[in-house]
Order: sequence, then structure tokens, then C-alpha cells
Amino acid sequence: MMLGRNITIIGGSGGMGKVFCKYFKNHRFDVTLFARNELRLKKVASEFNVKYELSLEKSVKNADLVMISIPITSTAEMIHKIGPLLKKNTLIFDISSIKKSVVNALNEVQNKYPINCISLHPMFGPGITNMKNYVMTVLKVGGTEKYEEIVNELLNLFRSDGLIITETEPDIHDKRVALTLGVPHMFNILFLNLLKSSKEPLNELTRFTGTTFLLQKVFAESIIQREMEMFGEIQMENQEFLKILEKFEALLSRYKKIVEEKNVKGFNEIFSQGLDYSKEDNHFKNSYNYFYEFMKILKRESEN
Ligand SMILES: NC(=O)c1ccc[n+]([C@@H]2O[C@H](COP(=O)([O-])OP(=O)(O)OC[C@H]3O[C@@H](n4cnc5c(N)ncnc54)[C@H](OP(=O)(O)O)[C@@H]3O)[C@@H](O)[C@H]2O)c1
Repeated sequence: MMLGRNITIIGGSGGMGKVFCKYFKNHRFDVTLFARNELRLKKVASEFNVKYELSLEKSVKNADLVMISIPITSTAEMIHKIGPLLKKNTLIFDISSIKKSVVNALNEVQNKYPINCISLHPMFGPGITNMKNYVMTVLKVGGTEKYEEIVNELLNLFRSDGLIITETEPDIHDKRVALTLGVPHMFNILFLNLLKSSKEPLNELTRFTGTTFLLQKVFAESIIQREMEMFGEIQMENQEFLKILEKFEALLSRYKKIVEEKNVKGFNEIFSQGLDYSKEDNHFKNSYNYFYEFMKILKRESEN
């Protein structure tokens, strides 16, 4: 076993910090939490029966693993700060949702110090109860001669709990999450704002719906209750997202023109383009069944 047992979680009092605190504690790691606000940190440390430390230097100097779980905009700076404080062969990993600048920072510190760096992106939020069958994207950065051995031990630990490990590169990662996180977040924020601009209360609108609206509304309401700061960062810190917004603007103008001109041919064209694209998808065939399964749950709830 190359992977040591001392792990420090920077941002350990946050949503994701807590998920991984519990995870590593359950796997018998010796967990230390670091964050700035002592009251919250102390509370979380006692909830999970782990140590906490308010000095950054003290918190990481004996660590075998350091996990960085703080807002995206502070992550690169934190990587630079802790680089010189670590002992040989320590493995650092972040879990931030945008990778380009973070992976650059990890690369710089692993070139300067004899440490190991990897960048992870768990594709789930703090509400998770079990990681089985969830995806974790992994970006290998590099490090010492022990790199492969140490990194593989950590990844195998995750695999042993059913996590699906997907290896990728920073550019591909950021381009894809702009589509898989940024776009659905944006659509749902805009959906609720569009409805709000009508001044119609949602409960009133709900009285005029069968299925589609109800499901879309529940989806939007579950998204809008989550982390505002992170959702903003996911869109604003990802250069790829702005490019998508530009395409979206063009698409919307085309759509508006089609509707304005009652252009049936144009409508059929844009509709069919969407259909053709989704036909290739593995869920396509059963989507309508899934839709009605979700509806059954919602109907049951409204009957109670
Ligand atoms: N939430 C998700 O669904 C999700 C999913 C995948 C990945 N992620 C990534 O996970 C990371 C953490 O997200 P989260 O939702 O857990 O955030 P969070 O709940 O806001 O927690 C942030 C943590 O970082 C600490 N912190 C904030 N700024 C800091 C700084 N400058 N220096 C040291 N500690 C600092 C906070 O405590 P103090 O303020 O007391 O210092 C807190 O412990 C982000 O990079 C995010 O992209 C989140």
C-alpha cells in the first residue's frame, strides 16, 4: 500500500467536503478538516468525529492526501499556497467543476515540488447518499516516480464503491460540462424567470397543466434550490460557456423568425434536426416511458 492514511480536506465544512469526510472516515482514513470559519468547522468535525485545524500550514504538513474542496475561483490560488508546505509524495486533488486553470496550477506545483497531483470532478452533489453508479471524471496531472501507484490506489478505492471513473483532458472536460451542467442550469433559471415575467403565480399555472409543464417545473424547482455561487462560477469561469451562449442567441433568433413568419417548413426543419440528434442516444427509445414513470410519482404526491 503506497497511499498513506492521513487526509486533509480543505473546505471540509462545505457541502462536498462533508460528503468526502464521511467517505474517507468510513474507509478508516485519519481525516483532518480545514476551513476559515471556526464555528462551522468545529461543528462539522464533531458531527463526524474527526480533527480540525485552523492553521493551513499545520493542517497539510503531515498529510498523505490533500483534497481541495473550495469555490472554483479560490482553488488555483490554494494549490499554489499549499504546494511548498507538503511532504514528499503527498497526493493533492481538487474536485472543482471547471478544470483549465486548476489543472494548470496543479501542473506548476508538481513541476516545482516532489508531490503528486490529480484533478477530480465528482458528477454529483452533496445530496448524494451512495456513490454507486455515479461518474467521477479524472484528469491525471503527474508527479513523482510513485505517481501511478499512488493514484491508482485512490482510483481503485473509488471503483470498489461502484464509482464510474472517466479519464479526460481539461479542454474536453470544460467543453462538455459547459453543455452538461451550464446549459441545463441556464435553461431552468431562464424557464422560471420567463414564467415570472408573466406575473402568473406558479400554483395557478399548475392548474392548467397535464404532464410536460409539471415535470419541467419540478426539475427547475429542484435546481434553483441548489448552490447559487457554484452555479454562477460554473457558467462564468468556463470560457466555453460564453461560446454556447452565442450559439444559443443565434438559435433563438432563428426560432423567433420561424414563429413570426409562421414558417412551417422552417419549424419542421428545426424540430427534425433535434429529433435526428437525439435518436442516437441510448435513452431515446425509453424516454417516453421514463417520462410517465416520473409522472406517476408526481401524481401520487398530489393525491396524498
Ligand atoms: N456542490 C456540488 O454539487 C458540487 C459537485 C461537484 C463538484 N463541486 C465542487 O466542489 C467544490 C466545493 O463546493 P461545495 O458545494 O462543497 O462548496 P461550499 O458548500 O460552499 O463549501 C466551501 C468550503 O470551502 C471553504 N472555503 C471557502 N473559501 C475558502 C478559501 N478561500 N480558503 C479556504 N477555505 C475556503 C468554506 O468554509 P469557510 O468559508 O469557513 O472557509 C467551506 O468549507 C467547488 O469547487 C465545486 O465546484 C461541487
